Amino acid sequence: MRVVVVGSGGREHALAHTFRRQGHEVVVTPGNAGIEGSTTAGPEDLVGAADLFVIGPEAPLVDGLADRLRAAGALVFGPGADGARLEGSKAWMKELLAEAGVPTARHATFRAGEEAAALAYLATMAPPFVIKTDGLAAGKGVVVTDDRAEAEQAVADYLSGAAFGAAGTTCVIEEGLTGPELSVFAICDGTRAVLCGSAQDHKRVGDGDTGPNTGGMGTYSPVPTLPPGLEDDILRTAIQPTVDALAARGIDYRGFLFCGLMLTPAGPKVLEYNVRFGDPEAEVVLPRIESDLAAVLAQAAGGHLDTGVVLTDRAAVCVVLASEHYPASPRTGDPIAGLDDAHRLDDVVVFAAGVAPGPDGTLLTAGGRVLAVVGLGDTVPAARATAYDAVGRITWPGMHHRTDIAAAVGAP
Ligand code: AMP
Ligand code: GLY
Repeated sequence: MRVVVVGSGGREHALAHTFRRQGHEVVVTPGNAGIEGSTTAGPEDLVGAADLFVIGPEAPLVDGLADRLRAAGALVFGPGADGARLEGSKAWMKELLAEAGVPTARHATFRAGEEAAALAYLATMAPPFVIKTDGLAAGKGVVVTDDRAEAEQAVADYLSGAAFGAAGTTCVIEEGLTGPELSVFAICDGTRAVLCGSAQDHKRVGDGDTGPNTGGMGTYSPVPTLPPGLEDDILRTAIQPTVDALAARGIDYRGFLFCGLMLTPAGPKVLEYNVRFGDPEAEVVLPRIESDLAAVLAQAAGGHLDTGVVLTDRAAVCVVLASEHYPASPRTGDPIAGLDDAHRLDDVVVFAAGVAPGPDGTLLTAGGRVLAVVGLGDTVPAARATAYDAVGRITWPGMHHRTDIAAAVGAP
């Protein structure tokens, strides 16, 4: 098959790498300097030349790219703008979950002018307080705090537009949950969902879960501490009911569904849905896939998924290498050294996220999260050792990374 991957980060590199490993031809638009097959041609220009489109990031999905490509006759894996509202509007997502009977945190939605009611609702909550802006905010729209005054200030800033402007004045206040987090992935064909792996992310920038939140500093998969059958339970009690509720609203959801959960003492509860694969979760789940992923996604895109996805028992650990001052104000333009050395290791793959072309085929940093370094191994600790061996060979001025990705997983 000739597959076009839309996007420019580590997730899209991992998608392209998987399709290519399985014998498909791949073009990535726009891709980046570290992804083979990147092209400056836009998705709409490639319609005639592709058997399948796979759209990586949420922004083009929310913006209706899948609808436009389908209207032009393409086979597309990725929801239309209607389904992408699951990620584009937290208020709408929570409403749908309630309708579907999916376990989630108690919540209420407030709009501009409703500050008094919002503060009254907040007063009924116990810490941790959780306030989310309704729309897409590039991972910056969620405040989780034990400090009531800070929570009240966040509510005021969201509703007045001080935080996200006039477009971001709707917010959701929800019950604070506790427990380990888990990301579970599914592939949907409009009526049916099948599991496609799970992973644990590390969102804070610093070791020991300290410092500000980021898009993700590292991941591992599988998650050996999960009770047997938990993923199937989540498919049955959360993911499939969500697809059913979408279908009941006339939404033909064909794409990845990323279910973000908290494993609370009262059972798993859905924190959020994303309408795409996670990044850097894709970097650890996709290298574990043994099924022909492009064939499965083509089935789902055509509305007739009739196979599951098989993953190897081997483990993958991803360590994100970030540029100086990420996440606040990442510095760019630093030359990356040691990539070839890392590539020479067995069981290592390095996915390029925020990179630009440098002199003589070298790469320069061009974003906050620059590289996703993945190690594979028979166990999570073995994969972790391999990943950090590769990390130790790569450097640039100001590069930083966490040293404790997957450290909590002991030897089996
Ligand atoms: P979200 O974008 O909704 O996934 O939120 C980002 C992060 O905020 C999550 O990964 C959690 O760490 C945290 N978070 C979100 N909702 C809650 C909640 N109800 N209780 C506790 N933490 C939460
Ligand atoms: N790593 C979290 C996300 O992709 O949203």
